[in-house]
Amino acid sequence: MAGTPISTHSDLESVYGEGAAAVRDRYVALSKAHHARFGTKPEIFARAPGRVNLIGEHIDYEGYGVLPMAIHLDTIVGVSRGGADLTITNVEAHKYGDLTFSADPDQTVDVGKHNWGNYFLAAYKGVFETAAAKGLPRPDISGLNVTIQGTVPTGSGLSSSAAIVCAASVALMHVYGFDFTKEASLGEVSEFTARAERYVGVTSGGMDQAISMLGARGIAKLVEFDPVRAHDVPLPAGATFVICNSLAVSNKAESATGRYNLRVVECRLAAAVLAALLGERREAARAVRTLKQLEPVVAARYSGPKGSTAGAPLAAVHELLHPGTYSAAEVEEILDAPLASLFEGDASAALVLAAFRDFKLHDRAAHVYSEAARVPAFRDVCLGHGSADEKIAALGKLMDDSQASCRDLYECSCKELDQVVALAKANGAIGSRLTGAGWGGCTVSLVKDEDVDAFLRVLTEEYVRPLIAEGRLTEETLSDNIFASKPSSGAALLKLDL
Ligand code: GLA
Repeated sequence: MAGTPISTHSDLESVYGEGAAAVRDRYVALSKAHHARFGTKPEIFARAPGRVNLIGEHIDYEGYGVLPMAIHLDTIVGVSRGGADLTITNVEAHKYGDLTFSADPDQTVDVGKHNWGNYFLAAYKGVFETAAAKGLPRPDISGLNVTIQGTVPTGSGLSSSAAIVCAASVALMHVYGFDFTKEASLGEVSEFTARAERYVGVTSGGMDQAISMLGARGIAKLVEFDPVRAHDVPLPAGATFVICNSLAVSNKAESATGRYNLRVVECRLAAAVLAALLGERREAARAVRTLKQLEPVVAARYSGPKGSTAGAPLAAVHELLHPGTYSAAEVEEILDAPLASLFEGDASAALVLAAFRDFKLHDRAAHVYSEAARVPAFRDVCLGHGSADEKIAALGKLMDDSQASCRDLYECSCKELDQVVALAKANGAIGSRLTGAGWGGCTVSLVKDEDVDAFLRVLTEEYVRPLIAEGRLTEETLSDNIFASKPSSGAALLKLDL
């Protein structure tokens, strides 16, 4: 079946709309930097946006749908063929020095060395692997010269990493002649970029790459997985989402073992233990990979007198899992197997198991099941018949509940995020929550249109501007760290004559 072609443009207006004029300078600067470094202009440009997740946090890797939108901040990539290696430069050379990798697609990404070039390398490997899996002949491997520039603040929870991986993949598919309509649909590209990004050492889900590839101007998306599908969710009139960076830097890859990957392991253990306690045979329980996979088992057990209700998974968690921590020994006894046997071949999980022996299963599972239910509830409010005010109030409540769950059950908030959320709520936000992986990065607040200016002013003066005085932010990047966000378009290929 033919897929949707990647959107391909020869002008900036059709990608960026009214923002095109402001963006043009970035493309010109990238082209010049490329020429100065490699003696030729890029053959092709690609761009992919960051995202803000409106609701549905830490549930994509458990199989549940999420509700993000692409934002205007993006990564742009210019590529030309040349040399024998992969040479990657950044327009901001003072911040990100040149990196050189071999052009061998089978090399491993050195997760011990965290650097932004790893994300390009992950995309490079992903493109070749996908081509091989589809039985396509391997293209000639020549060297590539790559220049990158991005405006998505790093470590901010706005998916700067997915923006690099997706922009790079789009450019690379073009360079190697892979056809988006035949060889891989946009959904498939988002799936392989999500897999590829895991080379960098984070066992993340597929939300960031899906919305970076499939985002659309003016519309948020309910993204479902396996396979990736995106459904339009029109946001209510009169509502604006404001993003504010707490500036607590949360680098997912560097902190993965103690944060993100630990949560992924905890969810897997929660699913397996819950399956065992629901009466599954031990072998079958150990094979359960996500909390979503348990739904039929829960439904079977809770049918009859208790009835199978939407709240059944949560009821099972409260009834069968105890609060607090489970020791490794306790989990091993329930599952009748060493923990390591559940995670064979998973290097990220091995690091987690080597570092941690106690796991919170009740709270993590309770977050996942309750957050998973908030996503369709959010969509239903948007598509429903209430007045704009009623819709905004209902969405705000769902966002606040999500924040409380992330903070108390999933423990992925932090003091700076809580502070920005509290400030937002005290100054007109109808709802406010962390967005992305958390432990730092950005908040997203739902604000009525007429209150946006005042809201931005207060948060800027009381939270963001003092960070300039502390030297943690500059006047030039201020507007990338607090802004009212409209849903923006997804990844694109640009054939530009600059
Ligand atoms: C990161 C991951 C996503 C998702 C979020 C949390 O952004 O890359 O896959 O899990 O965290 O919702």
